[in-house]
This record gives sequence, structure tokens and C-alpha cells, in this order.
Amino acid sequence: MASPVDQELETLIRARYPIIYIVSWEEKRVEDTLREIAQNRSKKVFVWTITQGMLGASNVAVNQATRDPISALDFVLMSTEPAIFILKDYHTFLNDSVVVRRLRDLTTALKTTYKTLIILSPILKLPAELEKDITVIDYYLPTIEELGELLDGVVRSVKENPQIEIDLAPEMREQILKAAQGLTANEAENVFAKSLVEKRKFDVEVILTEKEQIIRKSGILEYFPGIENISNVGGLEILKEWVEKRVQAFTDKARQFGLPEPKGILLLGVQGCGKSLAAKSIASVWKLPLIRLDVGKIFSGIVGSSEENMRRAITMSESIAPCILWIDEIEKGFAGTQSSPFSDGGTTSRVFGSFITWLQEKTAPVFVVSTANEVNILPPEMLRKGRFDDIFFVDLPSERERREIFEIHLRKRKRDPAQFDIKRLAGGSDGFSGAEIEQAIIAALYEAFDQGRDLTTDDILGALKQSIPLSQTMREKIDSLRRWAADRARPASAPPTARRAKTKKAESDGQEEAPEASEALLPVREPSPAVEPQP
Ligand SMILES: Nc1ncnc2c1ncn2[C@@H]1O[C@H](COP(=O)(O)OP(=O)(O)OP(=O)(O)O)[C@@H](O)[C@H]1O
Ligand SMILES: [Mg+2]
Repeated sequence: MASPVDQELETLIRARYPIIYIVSWEEKRVEDTLREIAQNRSKKVFVWTITQGMLGASNVAVNQATRDPISALDFVLMSTEPAIFILKDYHTFLNDSVVVRRLRDLTTALKTTYKTLIILSPILKLPAELEKDITVIDYYLPTIEELGELLDGVVRSVKENPQIEIDLAPEMREQILKAAQGLTANEAENVFAKSLVEKRKFDVEVILTEKEQIIRKSGILEYFPGIENISNVGGLEILKEWVEKRVQAFTDKARQFGLPEPKGILLLGVQGCGKSLAAKSIASVWKLPLIRLDVGKIFSGIVGSSEENMRRAITMSESIAPCILWIDEIEKGFAGTQSSPFSDGGTTSRVFGSFITWLQEKTAPVFVVSTANEVNILPPEMLRKGRFDDIFFVDLPSERERREIFEIHLRKRKRDPAQFDIKRLAGGSDGFSGAEIEQAIIAALYEAFDQGRDLTTDDILGALKQSIPLSQTMREKIDSLRRWAADRARPASAPPTARRAKTKKAESDGQEEAPEASEALLPVREPSPAVEPQP
């Protein structure tokens, strides 16, 4: 019983904290720990469930009447021996005013006794009246060491079976345990066994698949296996450099060197310019699992209360750490945090507050990548120093970036970019986003396919001419975004001067470079006088 949570639990019990609320899915693990503490301190253990009432030693019911939730509390109050009382799933009764009152009475009464009341439940549902009286403990998922013990147990149990091959070289063992991280003890044991039954060995894939399902079942998080090569992201050189510089950021070597773990970044910018794409590629550069958090679902009311959902998302991502937690369109979920005390009883701002605190104080290596494309509804607290390592502004692609994007997407569609006039394409797509460029290529492909011939530069230029780019339809929004970002965010793309330096090199390499006219980062076709010049 060495884990810090177990130690904390023991400390609280010794310090006579009257009521402790333990949040955990793992009744058995928690109960075992509590029994061990009780034994060490010569206390009895009583376990209560709604179906059986209060059970004493050897699981004998003390009295049928204790099935009633209030009688159960009375039993705790009247009981004279030093004991730990574990109430399972008692959270369902915490909205009853009599129960609340009785619990408050108990906190006073128990302080002077050697009795501790434990509410054990997978869900935290604490009425505000009790917040000051009850101490909440998150019973964390098993640590790597604990998972190792479980694995050893499973290995021992099949040692005699000649049909099962157990290869547990240290690296293999580490991989298996890492894959199982984030599972409860029960889930881990089951998946180890499942892997043995299905594959006759411990198989990392089986474990990862199972984990993916469990994460998905939470309804809030989604697991993305390693995806999206960074070479598929066109432009955004500064952002890419930032990411590549930190490939080793989560290694022990970086810690020993004295580097803190990166906390996270906020990618802010114009629609369809590669924010989500970049988020996905960070995971593959750093070779970390990518987990997407759907902020909308946290508040949807479909799965549990918002507060509880946020907590679960945080604990789950911490238990999988090191990992990347991707929060797409963060502003949508947290919109209205300012006005919420009047609209939703303050839930949004409370949940947002706990998220912000976590962002700032988290110690587990969970790197948060948030994306947003609206600034006016973004809560200002989010942008304060210390929340994110950096805020990057992702603008419409420059001429040079558009060339890269054309090349990437032509290659994706099995075409050799050398067969196309990339310079003309980049020139003809001023003001288009990456997503729009991709769409133009697809539209052109349809056209060519329909005419029974292969794709040409003119097909793509034709498709570009037929669509109105974002820079026109959303001009005002983009302008205001740029003004906002000018002194608050770092550009994700290299400035024209840096690009010119590269261009010089390209020229000396014998490549031709387009004029820099469209490099002013103002790819608006008819610049309006209201637009501020870009730095
Ligand atoms: N810089 C880029 N390089 C290559 N492809 C790009 C780039 N930007 C956009 N695309 C293409 O457009 C698609 C959509 O881009 P993405 O979803 O990353 O945009 P976004 O910035 O997240 O937009 P939104 O704000 O609408 O969420 C990508 O999947 C990719 O195919
Ligand atoms: Mg996106």
C-alpha cells in the first residue's frame, strides 16, 4: 500500500476527517485499501449498499432496517466502536434534504470519535451545502507499478499452461504496461486475460484497441491513433519548428537538463488553414497518443453533469499521460463564461474555472493543443500568461505556403506536382485557405474525370475561379482576427523576410520565385482602406 492516494487516505482517517468521499469505479481496490488501513489501526469495517443494508464482519447484515439510507446514517451515529463505514453509491441520496442535514450533523458528531464515514461512488455529486464538510479524494487509476503487479499475477496464473507463450522481455513488459495505462485494475486484468485467450500472448494491439473502446465509452474523449504526418502540413514553418524543437520534450533527458514539460499551445486563426491538421501532426511528431476532448459534449447534458464530465476528462487524460489532449474549437464550449451566472447558474464558468486551474497547475505530462477561430467569445482568462506556452496565429496561406499546399494535395491525389504549373496555381489562389485549395483540386478532378482525361493546371485554375474564397466572404472577420492577433499571438508562419531569405536560397538552387506582391499577408482581392497594414 504505497501509492500516494492510499497514504493520503490513511492520513485523513488518522486525522479524524469525519466524512470522505472517494470517487472511483474500482470498489474492490478501494475497499481492500480501506480494510488494510482498518486492520492497521484496529478498526472494524462496515459496508453499506442499498440492496443489503449495513454489513459487518464476514459480510453479515447488522440489521435489515439499515437498508434505509437514513437509518444507515443513524447506525453510524449510534455505533460505539472505532470503525470505517463504507457507503457504496450513496451519491444518489445526496439530493435529499434530510440526508444532507443528517450528514452535516454527523460531521460534527464524528469529529470526536474514531469513526470515519466513506462515501464510495464512481460519480462525484456533492451538494453545495456539504462541500465544506466532506473531503473528496479521487482514487486514481492504477499506476504503472500496480499494473505491473496485476500483470505478474496473470502471468503466474497461466505459468503451467504450455499453450501460452509469455515473452516478457523488459521492453515488451514496458510496452504492455504503457498500453494498459488509463485502465482500471479490473479492466487491465480483463484485457490481459483477453489478449492471452485471443492471441496466446500479451499483445499490445489488443490492449490498445480495448483502451480505445473504453475511452470512447466515456462519451467525452475520443482516441486518435498516431496519424497525420507533419510533412502533410503546408507552410506554418514557425509552428512546425516549435514542435520539432520539442520532440524530446517529454523524455527523462529533458527533465535532467532542467527543462519543464511543455504545457500546451493555442492555435488561433482563420478557418480551414490547418489548425486541426497541425494539432494531429504534433501527436505524430512526438509519437504520443492523441485524445480529443469534445467541450460541447461536456455541457450537453447527455452524459452526466458538466462538472463531473470535466473531472473525468482530466483524470482520464492524466492517466494516459504522456499524451496530447486536443480541444478543438475551444471557444464554442466555453462561450458565455462571462454571462453564465445569470444563464446557467454559473456552471459554465465553474467548469471553465476548473479547467483553467488545471491548465496552469497540472503536473502530469498532458500537452494541451487547443484550437479556436473566434476571439471575441474566447474568455480572456484563457489568454493570460501561464495557461499556454504560446499562442499561435494561423493566417491564410501566403503565396509560398499555397505552393506547398498544392504540392501536398496533388501528391495526396496521386499526381506528380512537377506536371503542374504550381506557380500559376499559387498565383491564382490568392486569398484561398488550405481547405479551399484542397476542394478546388477535388472539383477539378471531377471535371477531368467526367471528360475522360487527366487533371491539368487549367482544370484547377478553373475550379478556383468558380469559387469565392473565404478572404472575400469573411473579410471583416478575418481582418478583425488579424488586428487582434497582431500584438497578442505569434504568427504560425514565417514572416515574408524570413521567407525571402529562404527564397534567395531557392533562387541560387536554380528555382524561380514568384514576386512577393501577395506576400503582404493580405490576400484580400480589393484591400479595403479600413484594413491595418500587417507588421
Ligand atoms: N496548411 C495546410 N497544409 C495542408 N493542408 C491543409 C492546410 N490547411 C488546410 N489544409 C487542408 O484543409 C483541411 C481542413 O483543414 P483544418 O481542418 O486543419 O482547418 P482548421 O484550421 O482546423 O479549420 P476550422 O477552423 O474550420 O476548424 C485539412 O484536412 C487539409 O486537407
Ligand atoms: Mg479545425
